[in-house]
Amino acid sequence: ALCDIGFIGLGVMGKNLVLNLADNGYKIAAFDLSQEKVNDAIEQDKEENKTDSQRVYGCSSYTELLSQLKAPHLIVLSVPAGEPVDQVCESLIGAGIQPDDIVIDTGNSLWADTVEREERYKNQFILFSSAVSGGEVGARFGPALMPSGSPYAWTRIKPIWEAISAKVDPKTGKPIERVEPGQIIEGGDPCAAYIGPAGAGHYVKMVHNGIEYADMQIICEAYHVLRNGLGMSCDEIADTFEQWNQGPLDSYLMEISVEVLRHKIEEETPLVDLILDKAGQKGTGLWTAVSSLEVGCPAPTISQAVYARSISSFKDMRVTASELLQGPTQKTLSDEDKQAFTMRLHDAIYCAKICAYAQGFQLMKLAAKEHNWTLDFASIAKIWRAGCIIRAVFLQPITEAFERNEELENLFLDEFFVEQLNKYQANWRQAVAEITLMGIPAGALSSSLSYYDSMRSAVLPANLLQGQRDFFGAHTFERLDKAVGKRYHVEWSSQERAIQKI
Ligand code: 6PG
Repeated sequence: ALCDIGFIGLGVMGKNLVLNLADNGYKIAAFDLSQEKVNDAIEQDKEENKTDSQRVYGCSSYTELLSQLKAPHLIVLSVPAGEPVDQVCESLIGAGIQPDDIVIDTGNSLWADTVEREERYKNQFILFSSAVSGGEVGARFGPALMPSGSPYAWTRIKPIWEAISAKVDPKTGKPIERVEPGQIIEGGDPCAAYIGPAGAGHYVKMVHNGIEYADMQIICEAYHVLRNGLGMSCDEIADTFEQWNQGPLDSYLMEISVEVLRHKIEEETPLVDLILDKAGQKGTGLWTAVSSLEVGCPAPTISQAVYARSISSFKDMRVTASELLQGPTQKTLSDEDKQAFTMRLHDAIYCAKICAYAQGFQLMKLAAKEHNWTLDFASIAKIWRAGCIIRAVFLQPITEAFERNEELENLFLDEFFVEQLNKYQANWRQAVAEITLMGIPAGALSSSLSYYDSMRSAVLPANLLQGQRDFFGAHTFERLDKAVGKRYHVEWSSQERAIQKI
């Protein structure tokens, strides 16, 4: 019998998505340029298959793949973003793909490439996109999916996507764990909801990753200050994180940080002490930061997280500078002081996390306006509650904030977050001051605080800035004491310094 879905790209993510689809009763025709990966996927499926019938069929060409599928064909791509996506699309055209066939790009493509691709291929096939979050375990047992593109294609994809996605317990808002091959979760809110037209889904996934960078960096800064400022061991830090993971900071990223910190080499050396401190990045965090500048949406917590990765990559330069540049002399803290500081650090992390999400959601809102997308932010927060890398209990109050007000401009204006920030800002401020005096870099925690203080400033020094601009470039300014929109200019260099109305 013919297969339901064609699958191209059997790397770690692809293979796990294939097995997840197979668990949910779909028959898959699988292809990869590497025959070894095809064989590997078939082998693993044999091991995990709990049914009597074959679930995954290997193909050795694009033509064979199409011939194995029911028409109109539904093909899922899991290939690296960029050129490889176009290479596969062109190969499918060469193999005779039809205009009503659907190709779903599940990679982290740049959203603008997706918009352009949908247009370019529209007479040859329907390009749909659906970024996947959750890493390999998510792909295998339930990722968060951010589908976007043709609404017609979505009607076909929806039942499949809802079946394979992560599920949330509607009563608690918490993920329903699925860890066994073949295990199917009945009920639960699926972490797959239609996002919008072409590009919208990839944009939302890009911002997810920007927030992911910020979340990771905030945790790393906390680790850094506990390790170097307070001299705690990796196990002690893991204990602290574990404790924090019981409260509002409860998140997947905090959970995996505990595991990384506990991992030992030969039962004694913490592995993390041996990992080279140079961070990699594949681009999505950087794209978010770039987009925030283009859209004009301040996102310093996210951008700082990207900078932190960049500065980490200059290892040799840092080592040289560390011999040259001085910092404060280290003070030893009493156990009591350490404890009090750790509590304030917790609040600082929480507030910085609020900033990262406030920035990410505002960015999506402004981008949606610019591109004419209608995004449902409550629904986006909901699908991030499980399956994805930033999953956290924290997504529940964000969901509720957007349910209270779907037009909410920034989380800083929501009653719950106002209350939280007011409650914890003093501790956050003190923690950042203490970390600064310790001489430990904490760009995400401190730039978040500066974002917070800017946001709550009715008056900023942009008045002087406008004066400077007018001085050297006659850029003009508005006045508080005159009608809105009227522009003024000063003849700064002339004797009389006359003010002119423009
Ligand atoms: C996810 C992840 C995933 C991947 C990113 C980030 O949501 O499952 O974000 O897409 O880990 O590509 O990778 P970098 O840290 O290498 O940029």
